[in-house]
Amino acid sequence: MRQPDFVHEFVPGSSNRTLLLLHGTGGNEHDLIPLGRELDPNAALLSPRGQILENGMPRFFRRLAEGVFDVEDLKQRTNELADFVINATERYEIDMKNIIAVGYSNGANIAASMLLLRPEILHAAVLFRAMVPLVPETLPDLSSVSVWMGAGNQDPIIPTSETQRLAQLLRRAGADVTIRFANANHGLTNAEVETAKHWIEELGPQVSKNFGYRLPKALSSESVT
Ligand code: MLT
Repeated sequence: MRQPDFVHEFVPGSSNRTLLLLHGTGGNEHDLIPLGRELDPNAALLSPRGQILENGMPRFFRRLAEGVFDVEDLKQRTNELADFVINATERYEIDMKNIIAVGYSNGANIAASMLLLRPEILHAAVLFRAMVPLVPETLPDLSSVSVWMGAGNQDPIIPTSETQRLAQLLRRAGADVTIRFANANHGLTNAEVETAKHWIEELGPQVSKNFGYRLPKALSSESVT
């Protein structure tokens, strides 16, 4: 039976930004907390655990084989995750306009799916080792969304062409997409974490809690393919 809510960890922050941390296959809600803190020392961190178990390993949606996704399940799980985030904004007083997804591998794929199916949730996304999760019938309007993608040029799971295909899809929807190819495989490097951290810093000012004014639209970042 499906859990009524996502098991999750929430770490309060001192700014009005929240990082939605989405782990990879076999991970859990604790895995990306240090990464989130490294990427933004002031943001709140919301880190759910994927509700699917594949041979005991948590994931965010079912797959039929490596890189072959159960698209109907993915759609359903994406909506459930989006609804969880909306509920969490009330529970933890999260600013709905300043949520940045940080996803790794399977978590990056559901973050990309959320951009495509539930574009109202995310202000920006950092996608480490992502691929095209699905192609929606109608492209959303992502013209106010910024996306940073970190790929490994020796990744045995995600060919660089897949990363490019996702970038193209997000750009067709209007997103401002930056891609960085690291000299790496599926694992992250310190250098790309550092680059993503700078990208987040440049997204625009965070405000301390309780000021409550509207943030300016994210600043465009340099786009490199
Ligand atoms: C996925 O299933 O989302 C991708 O193949 C990445 C992975 O989790 O191995």
